[in-house]
Amino acid sequence: MPAELIDGVAIAARVRQRVAHDTAALKALGVTPGLTAVLVGNDPASAVYVGSKERACKEAGMHGESIRLPASTPEVELLALIDRLNADPAVHGILVQMPLPKHIDSPSVIRRIAPAKDVDGFHPFNVGKLFTGDRDGFAPCTPAGVQVMLEEAGVDTSGKEAVILGRSNIVGKPMAALLIQSGKTADCTVTICHSRTKDLASHTRRADILIAAIGRPEMVTAEMVKPGAVVIDVGINRVDDPSAPKGYRIVGDVKFDEVSRVASKISPVPGGVGRMTIAMLLANTVRAARLSIGG
Ligand code: GUN
Repeated sequence: MPAELIDGVAIAARVRQRVAHDTAALKALGVTPGLTAVLVGNDPASAVYVGSKERACKEAGMHGESIRLPASTPEVELLALIDRLNADPAVHGILVQMPLPKHIDSPSVIRRIAPAKDVDGFHPFNVGKLFTGDRDGFAPCTPAGVQVMLEEAGVDTSGKEAVILGRSNIVGKPMAALLIQSGKTADCTVTICHSRTKDLASHTRRADILIAAIGRPEMVTAEMVKPGAVVIDVGINRVDDPSAPKGYRIVGDVKFDEVSRVASKISPVPGGVGRMTIAMLLANTVRAARLSIGG
């Protein structure tokens, strides 16, 4: 039987509806949630992400602003901009798009963002809260979105083997931190695999929940997946396709056609996790705005 689809578009739309509702409630109290995204340089993919964040904010009734800086911007200038945004009461969430140009030290930039405005959840203060199970902080948007997808798809995670492919600070590590906590849509036994993992398939075949965030097009094949597993594909990869109108198409890290015949539930690419990231960013920003007035 083919796997049931976990529809990220529909789940993200529900999250965004809640965000719009909460935004309206805050506006009635005189507070318009505001997110400022900072983009340094002109990486085309990053520019697309930042543009869609701005549009999504406006659709939800929030204030969305993008600040675009040249690739040559000195680190001190970026840090001074963050200081200004930290001090601006109309800005509730600050996002500095990654990756940054090589001459800028990303950890220093992340540490400069006020933890209360760090809606990306990248600041060590929020990372610490995430690992210690303190729900007051902000969780990074992509793994938080995956957790919401598992919840909305009715996946029972308690005591299950979750295997995560990829150890990035943006997805793999925080995903593990979310799934090892005690509580709802968590309580997993977690394995993180990465580029140095030996015999990858021996790990992936144990997974009740397999989360692929490795950035390698269609790397996960059917024989790597346990029958009945839940598979979440975080990958967004461009592959050449002369038959496609743009000359390329977007694929995930999972070979969807064959894995969907083995899995019980699977998220597609596109139409899966991608939409959730922005929805969770909006949700974090509304929460930051509410917390700023003591709520
Ligand atoms: N680059 C890729 N994903 C992200 C993200 O979630 N936040 C930021 N700031 N940069 C990214």
